[in-house]
Amino acid sequence: MPKSKSDTNAISLLKNDHKTVKGLFEKFEAAEESSEKENIIAEAIEELKVHATVEEEIFYPAIREEVGDDLMNEAEVEHHVARMLIAELDQSTEDEEYRNAKFKVLAEAVKHHIKEEEGQMLPSAEELDMDFDALGEQMVQRKEELKSEGVPPDAEHEMLSGRQGRPRERTKMAGASKAAGRKSDNEKGMEPRKGRKEPRNA
Ligand SMILES: [Fe+2]
Repeated sequence: MPKSKSDTNAISLLKNDHKTVKGLFEKFEAAEESSEKENIIAEAIEELKVHATVEEEIFYPAIREEVGDDLMNEAEVEHHVARMLIAELDQSTEDEEYRNAKFKVLAEAVKHHIKEEEGQMLPSAEELDMDFDALGEQMVQRKEELKSEGVPPDAEHEMLSGRQGRPRERTKMAGASKAAGRKSDNEKGMEPRKGRKEPRNA
């Protein structure tokens, strides 16, 4: 079957989405203004949610059996990791620096995922005798629906909203804690740590 390169070809469609998000990651790296960075984060998150949902609902199930469980499982776990970070960014009350760091880690994870999809999964899929134009049409339609109606909440958002536990403290530079007036072990009612020496040149 001749392979179509039309815009609605499922594989071209996914590669175009990959280009879009990689472009946004580059724009983020070049951005200086906080508001610009925040707009890019919001746009990338929206793109990624729509893209991942279409893959999970339509593309992955269509190719899983032929491409094999190993590659498909790994791709799904990578989606899960990205979705956890996205859920955290959506619910984030962290300061700007931490939020930007989180987005950078998301970008790295997604770039790795794209590399694997384009290097292994999509070439394997292209070998299959499958109507990728028809599949692509379904994907375009679903993308439009998701963009107009919104992406349904995923398990990762649910998981995070029910999460209990101590919020993670940010690490500070060794000298900064004293300067910031951090309480000593005694003040906190703790035993002083043993074996701690005063700095030699103090
Ligand atoms: Fe993917």
